[in-house]
Amino acid sequence: MNGPRPATMSASRAVPQRLLRVLHLEDSVLDHELALAHLRRGGLQVHATRVESRHEFELALGQDWDLILSDYNLPGFSGVEALQIVRERALVLPFILVSGEIGEETAVEAMRNGASDYLLKQNLARLAPAFERAIEASDTERARQAADRELELSRNRLSALAQHLQTSVEMERAAIAREIHDDVGGSLTALKFEIDWIRRHAANEEIERRAAVALETVSHAIEASQRVMHNLRPAILEQGLVAALQWMTQRFARRTGIECAFRTSHDMLHLPAGVPLVAYRCAQEALTNISKHAQASRVEIEISHSAGVLLLEVSDNGQGLAPLDLEKARSFGIRGLHERASTVGGWIDLSSSAAGTTLILSVPVANARVEAQAEPAPAGSEHDPSTWGAL
Ligand SMILES: Nc1ncnc2c1ncn2[C@@H]1O[C@H](COP(=O)(O)OP(=O)(O)O)[C@@H](O)[C@H]1O
Ligand SMILES: [Mg+2]
Repeated sequence: MNGPRPATMSASRAVPQRLLRVLHLEDSVLDHELALAHLRRGGLQVHATRVESRHEFELALGQDWDLILSDYNLPGFSGVEALQIVRERALVLPFILVSGEIGEETAVEAMRNGASDYLLKQNLARLAPAFERAIEASDTERARQAADRELELSRNRLSALAQHLQTSVEMERAAIAREIHDDVGGSLTALKFEIDWIRRHAANEEIERRAAVALETVSHAIEASQRVMHNLRPAILEQGLVAALQWMTQRFARRTGIECAFRTSHDMLHLPAGVPLVAYRCAQEALTNISKHAQASRVEIEISHSAGVLLLEVSDNGQGLAPLDLEKARSFGIRGLHERASTVGGWIDLSSSAAGTTLILSVPVANARVEAQAEPAPAGSEHDPSTWGAL
């Protein structure tokens, strides 16, 4: 044919350049040849393999194909069953159904089941453009799935990195606290005793006065180091999460003047390693946020353990937050909590309205023991760097 190519043939130039590997489910050799002739006439380069039974078809599915072309009716097998097999194997493969007598209902049903297209044998001129369309669509779908997988992978990597950072920060903090305790703390305590000795044995009043001032300075330094150590690693946690949260709540109420209520289902919770610190940091961030952003007059903190889940709930009656608040580029508090929670298999729920904000940490802790009475800290917490004994 001279002159311009038919419009249907110029739909996509990218697809026809490729040699297309086609699996053709067709019992008639003649029909197979006819289909190939139409495809070649349509400008497609095709390498086709013809199969005609379920067994051959299933075997062939193990190989790589660009498209499946299938007859509707075969002896002992059907195009619809073939389509079913392809979908069950979750193959992203265009599937075109061809029939001599396909009814509209059957065609619609086939399309609903995932066929890319259907054609009548009398109308095979449509075959090449149908191929192009179907292959383009499946290429797009495959690219989308690959992008999704890549995105998921990248999300997981980012989350693993964030969790690793959270854990490393806590380990680093504990190490610094230990160093302050062992080196600075030890020296300051020794210094305090020495200066006190000098004060008591002072030869004159001036030396005694100076020694007393020095003693006061050293005491301040000791207090400051203890404060720094506490911020680095809350020693109060050694007395259990419940006691630590109670203490935190009282201190918060005193410091901010905000009315605070603390409720707990148990006096003592023996939780798996790592969980108390995560819960503690979570409450700390929630309270900091309340004092910074909420303008609340009342806060409720509740810790409970039921049905194998530890729940920490911090709610305020402040102004609430908008979803956009959580998108702030430089706000990492709540984002950090999500990562922290996942280091112990937990998660954070945040809900907010004009009546206030509630932050909930949930951690499944099936093996937690609960008691009504306080017990000494469990073994494994042998060295507490932020308690210096009686100074
Ligand atoms: N309890 C709260 N009440 C009102 N707004 C809050 C509350 N907690 C958080 N927000 C809002 O959410 C934002 C993000 O909080 P966060 O991730 O902790 O980061 P940051 O506190 O550093 O801003 C805050 O800037 C604030 O606008
Ligand atoms: Mg914050």
